[in-house]
Amino acid sequence: MEKIIILDFGSQVTQLIGRRIREIGVYCEIYPFNKIPVIDSSVKGVILSGSPFSVREEQAPQISLEGIKGVLPVLGICYGSQLMAHNFGGSVERSDSREYGRAHLRIIDKDCPLLKDIPEESVIWMSHGDTITSLPKNSHIIASTPDVAAAAYRFNDELTFATQFHPEVYHTEYGSQILKNFVCDICGCAPVWTADSFVESSVASLREKLGNDKVILGLSGGVDSTVAAVLLHKAIGHNLICIFVDNGLLRLNEAEEVMASYRGMGLNVTCVDAGDKFLAALAGKTDPEDKRKAVGKTFIDVFEAEALKHTGARWLGQGTIYPDVIESAAVGTGSAKIKSHHNVGGLPEKMNLKIVEPLRDLFKDEVRRVGRSLGIPQRLIGRHPFPGPSLCIRVIGEVTKDKLDILRAADDVFIRNLREWPCNLPCASEPSRTATNLYDAIWQAGTIILPVRSVGVMGDERTYDYTIALRAVTSTDGMTADWFHLPYEFMEKISNEIINHVKGVNRVCYDISSKPPATIEWE
Ligand code: XMP
Repeated sequence: MEKIIILDFGSQVTQLIGRRIREIGVYCEIYPFNKIPVIDSSVKGVILSGSPFSVREEQAPQISLEGIKGVLPVLGICYGSQLMAHNFGGSVERSDSREYGRAHLRIIDKDCPLLKDIPEESVIWMSHGDTITSLPKNSHIIASTPDVAAAAYRFNDELTFATQFHPEVYHTEYGSQILKNFVCDICGCAPVWTADSFVESSVASLREKLGNDKVILGLSGGVDSTVAAVLLHKAIGHNLICIFVDNGLLRLNEAEEVMASYRGMGLNVTCVDAGDKFLAALAGKTDPEDKRKAVGKTFIDVFEAEALKHTGARWLGQGTIYPDVIESAAVGTGSAKIKSHHNVGGLPEKMNLKIVEPLRDLFKDEVRRVGRSLGIPQRLIGRHPFPGPSLCIRVIGEVTKDKLDILRAADDVFIRNLREWPCNLPCASEPSRTATNLYDAIWQAGTIILPVRSVGVMGDERTYDYTIALRAVTSTDGMTADWFHLPYEFMEKISNEIINHVKGVNRVCYDISSKPPATIEWE
């Protein structure tokens, strides 16, 4: 398959370049700058990303573009553009004018193919402390801003282009058009990378790779493992053995609902009811990390015991996705870590299993699109992220069955009402779609039961009951988050419904902290 290679110099937004290009329908791969892959005939172009470094620093990341620049189309973005200026006879200096944020771009070279179908003036996004003060040899300016003459330039007589601004960020009005001009017109890639084509080609390659082998896969109810399972099932049918561990820490009726959906999709899935084991492991534990470890270890024990029953299995299926792969490559391991929730790290050796990761080339939004293309119901595809340790980290302090029951009932009121409350904001998991209810507009929501009791009054009686905190956040990747502005009328309804219907609760609070400095979960 034809592809674009993105060389990453460490910018925070390198993944966005990849996502924009995939959105255009062209396949691309991201590599650290010091691990350039073999450039064979499938590579149609190379993009050099931004970086937190300055090209003037001694430890600045450097590469040789021999065999690439002048041979294949190249686009340097931000640091990438400055690196080429620096290395090919131009100069880069510390900037003394404003080069952060919005700026107005004016096209200078109207015939430049990189700027095809871009209006003469448009808004772009700058973010750099250095600036190009003289162009490299054999190049000319193609667009400028009032402060930055060389906002974009190209080398004469070769398909090498450079922008000091960031076409990949949303604030650059015609950023996607610029990337499309590069990958489609200049590199000549056809926009054929779609969810349907991915399903078709991966089913064929999974069939070839797995033959008649059996695969074991841990299902969590989350999007990644579900899509991985349905894809594998389409390829190898009943040779896919799915294990769903009910840890007794799930939401109200969640295990039953998820299992019903899985069976409805024809998956060969066993549910292991291990709630008692998890509760026993958590008994007496109050420290968040101790609780996480107890859940993680119990999960491994339960999953392994079930997996070992399937002696004929040859493979362990994983719902690893591309950001997991890039993250671990960036820290130097070069291969994806086993997903924390499915931390069955010892199993491959114990059972002599090989790993199969059908989604390891996909971004999260692509996983959702593939899921839709596979006919997985929206209720599963659009689910909020849910932590591996489940509700155990939302019962602050020691986890008991009573507190879990209170939390589950309160959580059910909150989540059910979020699903029923109309809203037409963008969908949190896929901003190009409009949400129809609050649940879809929110990135993640849940309730927390606090280890404090306070006095209240109900009818003629005094109560001494627990407090429930509500959490609802907007985010794109969970790394940063902001509290969602829930309508007051909605909060009023939830508070009344929880206090009136959930025995043991007499107070409801709304968490209005952003991350950082808070986190999404309370433990
Ligand atoms: P925090 O609380 O760190 O959470 O802001 C960021 C995202 O990660 C989820 N989360 C976890 N997921 N195991 C998981 O699989 C964990 O131990 C864990 N802790 C937090 C959290 O729900 C949010 O989506």
